Amino acid sequence: TPPILRKLADLRAATAEWQAAGETIGVVPTMGALHDGHLSLVAAAKKVCDRVIVTIFVNPKQFNNPKDLENYPRTESEDARKLARFEVDVVYVPDPEQIYPERFATTVSVSGLTDVMDGVYRPGHFDGVATVVAKLFLQSSASDAFFGEKDFQQLQVVRRMARDLDIPITVHGCPTIREIDGLAMSSRNLLLSDRARVAAPILYEEMEAIAEGVAEGQPFHQLQAAALKRLENAGFTKVEYLEMRANDDLSLLETPNRPARLFAAAWLAGVRLIDNIAIGG
Ligand code: PAJ
Repeated sequence: TPPILRKLADLRAATAEWQAAGETIGVVPTMGALHDGHLSLVAAAKKVCDRVIVTIFVNPKQFNNPKDLENYPRTESEDARKLARFEVDVVYVPDPEQIYPERFATTVSVSGLTDVMDGVYRPGHFDGVATVVAKLFLQSSASDAFFGEKDFQQLQVVRRMARDLDIPITVHGCPTIREIDGLAMSSRNLLLSDRARVAAPILYEEMEAIAEGVAEGQPFHQLQAAALKRLENAGFTKVEYLEMRANDDLSLLETPNRPARLFAAAWLAGVRLIDNIAIGG
């Protein structure tokens, strides 16, 4: 299994050598409970970079709900075993004080992109994400970073943050990996009951149905209303949003007249699911 480093000083010792040798460094930030979605990012990083660092840190600052933080799955030894197959160079599992030392007082906050969707329903979430990702970029000295389109809003927030702060890193977006039945892989899927797990793929099915309808020229709001009804019937207790938005600035669209995606967040048996798919292009 790859070496697990828990101190920033040890990580810096490794990256300094690699940089002296002129090697490129890829970083894959995660919160652990690794699945094939995470591992696809690792594979992409291995393809592009000489060295690959996977970080595992369950970042308390991005959890707007304390229960969610408490319940978040933690599977470190299994994670390390999964990463061994990919010949990752280092797994960085920072001790909490390596990220948030005493009297830590700085927040990185991205405006605009965070005014919608998860920015509304998870107050403070993206401040927590932008802050920890900025730190992980700087701590890892990476030339490249790999993020999933599964969290498309996060991907765009991270891109904006890196550009705005002149962090010299290329942010790569990687496609969403799904279970056979279409459910987007997510660490939180582990929290679904057997019954909820059966219903969960209906979210993706309804999103695909909307995308097909839009491609045939049907009005979005009609497709949206029909999908909302079917989701309710399938046991989804609350759909927070089911919206079509522009890829670049996440502005709301009624017709996909520029590169767009369909975004959804919905609760099923106490678990919050999010997903997004390309639409109209
Ligand atoms: P986490 O949810 O562990 O996800 C880590 C990375 O894996 C993110 O870039 C996410 O988009 C990607 N990912 C998750 N599920 C995926 C799937 N089914 N297909 C493809 N990629 C997938 O996102 C976070 O952690 C945190 O917010 C983090 C960026 C690590 C900051 O704390």
